[in-house]
Amino acid sequence: MKIAVLYGGTSGEREVSLSSGKGIIQALKNNGHEVTGIDFHPERLEEIIELNVDLVFIGLHGKFGEDGRVQGLLEMLGLPYVGSGVLASALAMDKAKAKQIFDSNDIPVAKSKVYTITDKTNLQDVGKEVNQVFKVPFVIKPNSEGSTLGLTIVENPEQILDGLKRAATSDDTILIEDFIQGREITVAVLGEKALPIIEIIPKNAYYDYESKYAAGGSEHIVPAPIDAETTKTIQELAVKAHSVLGCKTYSRVDFILTEENQPVILEVNTLPGMTPTSLFPDAAKVIGLDYDSMIETFVKRSVG
Ligand code: DAL
Ligand code: MG
Repeated sequence: MKIAVLYGGTSGEREVSLSSGKGIIQALKNNGHEVTGIDFHPERLEEIIELNVDLVFIGLHGKFGEDGRVQGLLEMLGLPYVGSGVLASALAMDKAKAKQIFDSNDIPVAKSKVYTITDKTNLQDVGKEVNQVFKVPFVIKPNSEGSTLGLTIVENPEQILDGLKRAATSDDTILIEDFIQGREITVAVLGEKALPIIEIIPKNAYYDYESKYAAGGSEHIVPAPIDAETTKTIQELAVKAHSVLGCKTYSRVDFILTEENQPVILEVNTLPGMTPTSLFPDAAKVIGLDYDSMIETFVKRSVG
């Protein structure tokens, strides 16, 4: 098959996407496809059209890649692509909107509040309000960002203003969320089925950017040592989250599992990382799909 892989791009997760893209391109080549990798910028659109490919594999992460915009462009060009469509991608990228949908479908979420920042917004006023509404520890994050970029875990109110400033550099919508204490777990969803749960043990205090992408930055335990009943509940919630957003082919659903064994959803990633330290490939391995077979499964599910 003739396949274009879009990767890199312009989002804050560009470096992650360069790494995901490299893996995806190699896997597609190993699987015998004719592959063109494109570091995606809008001015390269003509090149994609002229390639006349059978399929586009989106290896982008974050804004202008994972948020439905590229998916919309490809639909307008009539090019089939791997993964979720416009609406599901846009909803999953907008954490606040996704949380509303999860909440109304009985998928447990952390208490949160959204602030839209404009030129007229005084961040100090926002900070004062946040300090009244939330008790430490809580989380300040850009509403539409990935890989924990721009995120602050506030343990002391003095960190609020810097946290707001940091988040505002990535996004003009900021999400403030209760910090949920517990185990970091994630579920890869392939088709409409949940793969074995992964528990993440980061080397740093939190599963931050370094723990995510530095070699040896975290340990992934698959299947996670969680009792059978809770495992089933979490896997069902993961598939439900994937479905209520309208996701397609694959996604990865992140949760915190509290000490009371209560899963709380963090987000759905419609284009989860495919780097050497990423989670989805580790879950696929446990069900007998090595990296190349996993990529081929995505391709097969996307055509005909
Ligand atoms: N946002 C990164 C790529 C992930 O979820 O894996
Ligand atoms: Mg993410």
